[in-house]
Amino acid sequence: MKGFDWGVRRPAASVEDLRAEARRRIPRALFDYVDRGSYGEQTLRANRRDLDRLLLRQRVLVDVSKRQLGTTLLGEPVALPMALAPVGLCGLMHRDGEILACRAAQAAGIPFTLSTLSIGSVEDVAAAVEKPFWFQLYMWRDRGVTRALIERAIAAKCSALVVTVDLQALAQRHADIRNGLTVPPRVTLRNALETALRPGWALGVLRGKRRTFGNLAGLVPEAGDGVNGLTRWSNGQFDPGLGWSDLEWIRGVWPGPLIVKGILDPDDAERAAGAGAAAIVVSNHGGRQLDGTCSSIAALPRVRDRVGDRVELLVDGGIRSGQDVMRGLANGARACMIGRAYVYGLAAGGQAGVARAIRMMGRELDVSMALCGRRRIADIGPDQLMVN
Ligand code: FNR
Repeated sequence: MKGFDWGVRRPAASVEDLRAEARRRIPRALFDYVDRGSYGEQTLRANRRDLDRLLLRQRVLVDVSKRQLGTTLLGEPVALPMALAPVGLCGLMHRDGEILACRAAQAAGIPFTLSTLSIGSVEDVAAAVEKPFWFQLYMWRDRGVTRALIERAIAAKCSALVVTVDLQALAQRHADIRNGLTVPPRVTLRNALETALRPGWALGVLRGKRRTFGNLAGLVPEAGDGVNGLTRWSNGQFDPGLGWSDLEWIRGVWPGPLIVKGILDPDDAERAAGAGAAAIVVSNHGGRQLDGTCSSIAALPRVRDRVGDRVELLVDGGIRSGQDVMRGLANGARACMIGRAYVYGLAAGGQAGVARAIRMMGRELDVSMALCGRRRIADIGPDQLMVN
């Protein structure tokens, strides 16, 4: 993995190129785990389709020689209106995947969110990076484990808690079942062959410090430390009984800024704002949960109209370019969360791959701003879109 040189090996011009490289570098079952969505993938497709439909308004002969892409998120300066979304199992995409992605984000001046279901633990990442990062929390049925996770995020000096609320029941991804990515995993001839054909990936990941869920290992004695036991445990721990009072419970344990992730409906946004959320991520979990619901970019304007004056809004789902970031901002977001786009980069080229994904999207945003006659992020609003 070391010394992998983007420019020489395979020049990547876009996130789509990183995706193609990721497909070559990691086993098919893992690639599909990242790439695919739930059930018939209607919502996964809607995320992209609805972004593509938003046409940017070109403006000319505006002096755009001085452009600024920086803004603030939760009062902190960020270099780009972007943040890396929580993604489970990054440490299987590349050895030390979470640490590398966090370093790339921090070098680029944007927040990184560590998933509860990461391979590297919150302590592993905190020890390896220079600045605070965000921690994503799943509210487990077992409140003792949930509280322990929040306390560890506090001890690791995480700067925001991202509570994901769109997973009260676990949707199914057909591809994972067909690929044998189940508990226990089905060892198929194809999986064995795929691994054998990717020795670089296999050796890198196998030499990593951890091969299980770093945040859960040791917390649940009855599940053991292995990935199978912990997956079985966590699959049974997503809590259909969650309610708004649980957010209040979190508020009592977590003293810092709270971000609620996974809201599409303005009524829910209102409740989240009332429950003390500093920010909301308008999200359908990247088309991996409720299939048949709307794209997150389509849900955003109504959420903005309802709570945009009270909480900061982020959006994710299908964001693959700087133009998409601009669409997100035009529809009311302060920043966009990036999921698969950075994970493709991670699988393709480790920290350099993530840095590459962020840099490409930043440049695309910069050029698009110039061509739309916008100098500052704050200038991008609904009038940035063509009305058709
Ligand atoms: C996710 N997502 C996610 N969200 C979360 O809150 N906790 C998690 O552990 C995960 N895990 C996860 C794994 C993988 C492989 C993917 C692709 C996504 C959802 C993620 O945070 C984000 O909402 C979506 O990825 C956004 O859509 P795009 O940018 O991937 O299209």
